[in-house]
Amino acid sequence: MTANAPIKHLLGIKGLSESHIQTIFETADNFKSLLNGPVKKTPALRDITIANLFFENSTRTRVSFELAEKRLGADVVNFSSSSSSVKKGETLIDTVNNILSMKVDMVVMRHPAPGACVFLSKHIDAQIVNAGDGTHEHPTQALLDAYSIREQYGDVAGKKVVIVGDILHSRVALSNIYCLQLLGAEVMVCGPATLIPKHIQALGVKVSHNLDEALNWCDVANMLRIQLERQDQRYFPSLKEYSRLYGLNMDRLKQLDKEICVMHPGPINRGVEISSEVADSDQSIILQQVENGVAVRMAVLFLLGQQRL
Ligand code: CP
Repeated sequence: MTANAPIKHLLGIKGLSESHIQTIFETADNFKSLLNGPVKKTPALRDITIANLFFENSTRTRVSFELAEKRLGADVVNFSSSSSSVKKGETLIDTVNNILSMKVDMVVMRHPAPGACVFLSKHIDAQIVNAGDGTHEHPTQALLDAYSIREQYGDVAGKKVVIVGDILHSRVALSNIYCLQLLGAEVMVCGPATLIPKHIQALGVKVSHNLDEALNWCDVANMLRIQLERQDQRYFPSLKEYSRLYGLNMDRLKQLDKEICVMHPGPINRGVEISSEVADSDQSIILQQVENGVAVRMAVLFLLGQQRL
């Protein structure tokens, strides 16, 4: 990807350059200032209609996109597969084409199948934003995560970030690895060998199976949920055992000789990958991540809508 090659869709971090990401961050800075002021709306996308197509459950991403769209003045329609004609056998392309025929300009889609957004981009004219496709990518989550690290430290370059947990089934992990590396961070993944893809070192990441060692190395720990809904077999003996070896608790944080920043994309499973005490501590920026998600998604939608990405 050349520095300023324009993109039509946001299908993944894989298609972006560092320059694209810096443009998104600088635009998000402006939207964050707007959101912290008395008037939280701008008519920037007044003539745009956006459909949020969610074929998989979501709380944060769905609400965050809808707020971002409404604060940009766009018209918004929400579609949930569980209450749709998908249940009557309609295909993805038929469903989307029917919605697009009602003069929809942009599609934000979450889908359980990896590659669903790429597939759709080859069959429809509308712009597409990937809101998470199976185990593949979740680009706006990675952008808001990196934006939150930048906000915390002033820069992402040179920071050491460990992503802990179910790397094998995580679209957040893959998008974070691409995004953090583009911005000059060092990335480690940590978890049981069964939940780390075999050839992940080829992506240039370090690998550890020891959480205490990983915490001593890092500036930032991004704790991931065990994705039981994507697991078709047992990858570790029990959640209790997983929590003992890979759960982040106050005892682990206190034995470090530095203060690290704790992140989590949500939803949290309290007492499994992270204790309540850590999740609610001053070292946790989990709710700042969620807050930043709206500004970052406003930036992505605005720039795509203006064809400036
Ligand atoms: N982080 C994230 O994607 O959360 P949701 O599944 O609730 O959207």
